[in-house]
Amino acid sequence: MSAVRLALIGCGGIATQNYIGALPACPEARITVVCDPDPERRERARRATGATRVTADYREAAAAEEADAVIVAAPNALHAPIVRAALAAGKHTLCEKPLAMNYPEARELAELAEQAGVRHMTAFTYRFVPAMRWLMELTRRGAFGRILHFRSCRLQDWGGRFLGWRQLRRMAGTGEIGDMLSHRVDFARQLAGEFEKLVASARQFVPLRGGAVSELEDWVGVLGAFRSGATGVMESSKTAAGHNESWRSRDYVEINGEEGSAVYFTERWNELCLGKPGGEGLSAESVPREYWLWPGSRRDPEQGNPLLTFRYDQLVEFVQAVREQRDCAATFFDGAAAQAVMDAIVISAEEERWVRLSELDRKGDNPRG
Ligand SMILES: NC(=O)c1ccc[n+]([C@@H]2O[C@H](COP(=O)([O-])OP(=O)(O)OC[C@H]3O[C@@H](n4cnc5c(N)ncnc54)[C@H](O)[C@@H]3O)[C@@H](O)[C@H]2O)c1
Repeated sequence: MSAVRLALIGCGGIATQNYIGALPACPEARITVVCDPDPERRERARRATGATRVTADYREAAAAEEADAVIVAAPNALHAPIVRAALAAGKHTLCEKPLAMNYPEARELAELAEQAGVRHMTAFTYRFVPAMRWLMELTRRGAFGRILHFRSCRLQDWGGRFLGWRQLRRMAGTGEIGDMLSHRVDFARQLAGEFEKLVASARQFVPLRGGAVSELEDWVGVLGAFRSGATGVMESSKTAAGHNESWRSRDYVEINGEEGSAVYFTERWNELCLGKPGGEGLSAESVPREYWLWPGSRRDPEQGNPLLTFRYDQLVEFVQAVREQRDCAATFFDGAAAQAVMDAIVISAEEERWVRLSELDRKGDNPRG
């Protein structure tokens, strides 16, 4: 296969930043179809990509013969119907996180994708942060010994601003849980394995956003236990005043193993703080250059804002996986497993109790292990 032809469904913020923005880093990708009900966004995407088919109808876009693969970048509630349409048309599919509105729906999508025999990927974008990749590799190599604790903290200040579909339950499903915590759930699974049980609390501090009712939580805290015996603590907030937003705000992950600890801040994309027992405490080390870029990515890691440009490597990975006919770095099974944890968080917060992941039907786990 020479170039991979893509249908971009949903041409809003993330489509513009992570997919259209990634095209120069990924010359093997062409966006040939763009779809959005908003005519201005559709037209802006057409101009930016040179797409030859432009439509408001996701069914038409998903089935368009001009595309080999579909990128789903619409609001959360639309992920499942659009992914189903793409899979029914036999298209490789990259879907934004959270993969679906709940675990049964996410599991169904993973099973449908597997049956369709196509490549499937969930957009857990932070897997592409250079420091995160190095941390994963060090953990995999056993550099920290047995992992005892996973800790993550995502603090942003979104004030009282209007969040559009993100503040509606029927469109977003959850607030901070699906929006920000979902990425950290994915980190946690990679660094410490599967959750066994958890207890969570979710709170809403801002009931009106932009003068309209906001229905969803803007803070969540989770205490968890992994099957490995490790513990997990995760906090995520839109109401941490003064912390700013996005890559300017606090995104902290720490693991403590029997033989050492590692701390990572997304804003220091090429640095990890590492410490060993008996040492002087944590000290910063540079991420080796081979982790600065995803294999096959053509971006220059020293050009542009590296806190934005690492995100381009996600499209590179999807396109490479399609071309090489192999699994993507984060499949729909990863999306479904993270969704199971999110469902457990919702149940725990609502019912004010510990929830075992085994309470949810886990048959969506990757049958290939
Ligand atoms: N991976 C990440 O780091 C990351 C970051 C931000 C957002 N996201 C995810 O990306 C998705 C989109 O978020 P966003 O911030 O771009 O939102 P957005 O509101 O900026 O864009 C969504 C777009 O979808 C369009 N849309 C609405 N209905 C549609 C339909 N029926 N068919 C096609 N398009 C339709 C809207 O008109 C809009 O242009 C969400 O699922 C969100 O969780 C992921």
